[in-house]
Parts: sequence; structure tokens; C-alpha cells
Amino acid sequence: MTLSPLTKLAVVGAGSVGSSLAYAAAIRGSANTIALYDLNTEKVDAEVLDLAHGTQFFQASHVTGGSDIECVADSDVVVITAGARQKPGQTRIDLAGANVDILSSLLPQLLQQAPNAIYVLVTNPCDILTTAALQISGLPTNRVMSSGTVLDSSRLRWLVGRKVGISPRSVHSLMIGEHGDTEFALWSSATIGQAPLRDWTDEQGRRVFTPKLLDELEHEVTDAAYRIIKGKGATNYAIGIAGARIVEALLGDHHAVLPVSTMLDNYRGISGVALSVPSVVGRRGVERTIEFPFDEREDRLLHKSADALLAVQRSLGL
Ligand code: 2OP
Repeated sequence: MTLSPLTKLAVVGAGSVGSSLAYAAAIRGSANTIALYDLNTEKVDAEVLDLAHGTQFFQASHVTGGSDIECVADSDVVVITAGARQKPGQTRIDLAGANVDILSSLLPQLLQQAPNAIYVLVTNPCDILTTAALQISGLPTNRVMSSGTVLDSSRLRWLVGRKVGISPRSVHSLMIGEHGDTEFALWSSATIGQAPLRDWTDEQGRRVFTPKLLDELEHEVTDAAYRIIKGKGATNYAIGIAGARIVEALLGDHHAVLPVSTMLDNYRGISGVALSVPSVVGRRGVERTIEFPFDEREDRLLHKSADALLAVQRSLGL
């Protein structure tokens, strides 16, 4: 990974997600300077020190930060991970009210320090917070997004690849919709290498991805965070590196296709709600969304996901 010239990433929130994201970004050199900000001085100072001690081995040049918000000044990308997190038995949507309130007080302060940044919401429910952030900030839609289903798609690619002994890098399958309970897999366009996933056969010529297996894999992704939260209280490593990957696409102007969550404007007839669809991510943020044929199930589930999120938005007055 080569360094982008003179780029600054601010990570807001020094909990397990923020710290893991800063760590992944430092190792990969997602930005030259990484600033970690949190209100809890003792915690953030300790995380920054622990990270900074690895600088010799990082691709990034500087890790800095603290509890003074000025540490995020002039960032190119601000990733927000601060907020209440899911407890066992809670859904992401259960966090909506509390985390919109936190965002309402935090975002104006961040905008003062980093008025030209691209803002990436990782705090849950990240789709709802994207809508809230757009309303609070008045920024153009391309400059506010969330990590959406980038992580869920990585989970899916790993599960699919593991079934057939193929690298997740050669599996092209996406989870889209809400980063949450109504997300779903886009099986109709999924491929392994160039081969349509649904046509993949084993060495005996038997079809591997039966409808039952597809349902199981999709459910395993949707259930993944619940399992991890039950076992260790939070998810942090995979979201950390997924977040770093989004930052690289932004700062490196990669024009990478990633299922970030973005405010939709007549995407398959859906408007006024942020959710994940394949999007082109580059230095200007979300440059465009990509439309291509969906099957009947996928179209129905996308609208269902949008309706679920619109109902939450309405209940919050967004
Ligand atoms: C995750 O999917 C909890 O949203 C977090 O890992």
C-alpha cells in the first residue's frame, strides 16, 4: 500500500471500533496522519500512545489525537465511531434515538474543525445516522456516507469462498440494503471468478449453491454481529479494516465499487433514505450509484429494507 500524499484521517471515538479502525489504517497507510479523538481523556491518550509506539512498523507516518477536538482539524476524512453500542439482545435500530442525539451535538463541532472533510458514519444504525448527518450538516450527499454493508459483503465473500476453497478476493457477491436485519444478498449477479455463483459445480458436477445453502449463508451474515456480540461484547477487527478500506478508496481516489450506504435519489424508485447499494467511491466521496438488473426477490427486498428504514426515520422525525 503506497502512502497518499499528506492526507489526514480523523477517527472519532476511541472505543474498540475506533481504535481498531485507527490501527488498521495505520498499518495499511490509509492516510499519512491518523488522529484519534474521544471525550474520555484517559482512554484516548492511552490508545494514542499504544498506537504511536508502533509507528516504526506502520505505513502511516503519524498517529496523534486526544480529547481536544482541535486534533481533528483539517482532516480530509472523518470517520465517526462514537456512540452507544449494541448489547446482547439489542438490534442496531434500538440505538437510533441515543446515537442521533449524540451525533447532533458532535457533528457541528467536527464540521467547525474539518469543514472540507468527507464524513463516514460507522456508528449504528449507520444508515439512519447517514440521513441524520446530512440533515444536521447540510452537506451535499456525496460527502456523507456510512460503512453500510461493506463489512457484511466481506463476511459473505468469506463464507462463500470457504465453501468452495476460493479466495474471498475472487468472490464477487454483495449484501445490500440496511446494515441490519433487513439486508440481503444479491445472488443473481454474484460470481466466483467469472462464473455465475449459482452455476458453480463441485468436481462431481453437482451444483453447490442450492437455494437452501444460499438462505443459510445469507442468514449467517445477517446473524454474524449478534453471534460475535454474544461472545465478546462487540465486533471490532473486521469493521476496523473495512473502514480503513473505505478511507483508502476516498483518499486514493480509487473509484472503487463498494456497498457504502448513501442517500438514494430514485434508485430503483427509492428516494429519501440512505442504504447500501453498489457505489463508486473516490476523492469526491460517493461519485455515483450503479444500477443493473435485479431479480424479483432482490427488488422486493430492497424496497422492504428502504420501507423499514423510512419508518424509523419517520419515528425519529428525520
Ligand atoms: C457489525 O455488523 C455491529 O454493525 C456491527 O459488526
